Amino acid sequence: MTRVLVTGAKGQLGSDLKELSVHLQNIKFTFIDIDELDITSTEAISDFFSGQVFDYLINSAAYTAVDKAESDKETAFQVNAEAINSLISVIRKSQTKFIHISTDYVFSGDHNIPYTEDFQVNPQSTYGKSKLKGEEYVLQYENGMIIRTAWLYSSYGQNFVKSILKKGREKEELKVVNDQLGSPTYSGHLAKAILDIINKDMDNSIPFKPEIFHFTNAGVCSWFDFALKIKELAYLPCRILPVSTEQYPLPAKRPAYSVLSKEKIISKYKINIPDWKTGLKDCLGKLGELR
Ligand SMILES: NC(=O)c1ccc[n+]([C@@H]2O[C@H](COP(=O)([O-])OP(=O)(O)OC[C@H]3O[C@@H](n4cnc5c(N)ncnc54)[C@H](OP(=O)(O)O)[C@@H]3O)[C@@H](O)[C@H]2O)c1
Repeated sequence: MTRVLVTGAKGQLGSDLKELSVHLQNIKFTFIDIDELDITSTEAISDFFSGQVFDYLINSAAYTAVDKAESDKETAFQVNAEAINSLISVIRKSQTKFIHISTDYVFSGDHNIPYTEDFQVNPQSTYGKSKLKGEEYVLQYENGMIIRTAWLYSSYGQNFVKSILKKGREKEELKVVNDQLGSPTYSGHLAKAILDIINKDMDNSIPFKPEIFHFTNAGVCSWFDFALKIKELAYLPCRILPVSTEQYPLPAKRPAYSVLSKEKIISKYKINIPDWKTGLKDCLGKLGELR
């Protein structure tokens, strides 16, 4: 039976992968998070993998606190970069296929057409730089695939959608930036695409290759547009006002334009990528928030 290991199992993507995994009876999944394996410990990694071999490793573990990373650079690089090197050095022996999740933050964000996989990287934040270093390790592995995503949210964990739902009921007015553009991505849809890639490798219809892909939901909006849609679908009583990034300073610089081109993954895997509004409806439906 095919064995798949998922790290970061309690995170947004890890939780959605776990939920979908119950439909795949032909795969034996192992889900772990930091309690079972701290991926920054080389000793723990070597203990964990001794006597265990996996066909695929989906790495959804990451240091995702983008602002905190500015003052905690060391941890961000340990989790997002050095740990990737350690994982790969152990799984290389068994040629485990490694699916690593990365981010739009590897790009500068000053472009104005969707970023393709081969576009020049130029991260502007510590988080982005740490994720790029992680990518560099994956690219040195002959069985490593990178899937970059953006603006990820889920019915699990903490994220923009949940924060708007909460604040939108507590406050009369919310200010949300309207000069950063991207594609909100429902993690349930990303999880499905990843499992699709594994399934197609398993049945040999599309063999796994060490490549970079981009996956987000379709369509483009600003955080302000996204918040307005959440308000509309969940009937939030608050007013939502647009503000500029300048009016809402944060420790980490955000890309102004974060749109990733999905043409490569669509063309290779023939997947249907739902629009971001569909992703939002799916997530709100699961949260029981769709009015
Ligand atoms: N969230 C986004 O908007 C976004 C956007 C673009 C790309 N991505 C990428 O997508 C992937 C999945 O993101 P996500 O939002 O699902 O992340 P998440 O919810 O933050 O989950 C990450 C998981 O990794 C765990 N983790 C942290 N340090 C670890 C360690 N040393 N050893 C083992 N596990 C550790 C976390 O545990 P703790 O919670 O205990 O720290 C958490 O359960 C990540 O690679 C991320 O960089 C995310």
